[in-house]
Amino acid sequence: MKVMFDDRALAANAGERLLDVARRNGLPIEGTCNGDLACATCHVVVAPDWFARLPAAREEEEDMLDLVPDARRTSRLACQIVLTPDLDKLSVSLP
Ligand code: FES
Repeated sequence: MKVMFDDRALAANAGERLLDVARRNGLPIEGTCNGDLACATCHVVVAPDWFARLPAAREEEEDMLDLVPDARRTSRLACQIVLTPDLDKLSVSLP
């Protein structure tokens, strides 16, 4: 499967976190807390037509997103998005 990061198509595997796909491909995304919902440096903006297809964010993720200055309506944290086959060609961008 693939994930679209801006204009790049990155190979990805079901079960992987979006954060790990981005890191493996050298994208400038930090993920300082490595998924502990303590940093929000893994912020991504999901394409609007994909946003509703993702499992809803948990309250802890929403709380972190509230602290992100440039958060948008379709912002998510890449450490909390676990890829599944139906997310093939998921489209996100870096803020
Ligand atoms: Fe820290 Fe996602 S890596 S919140």
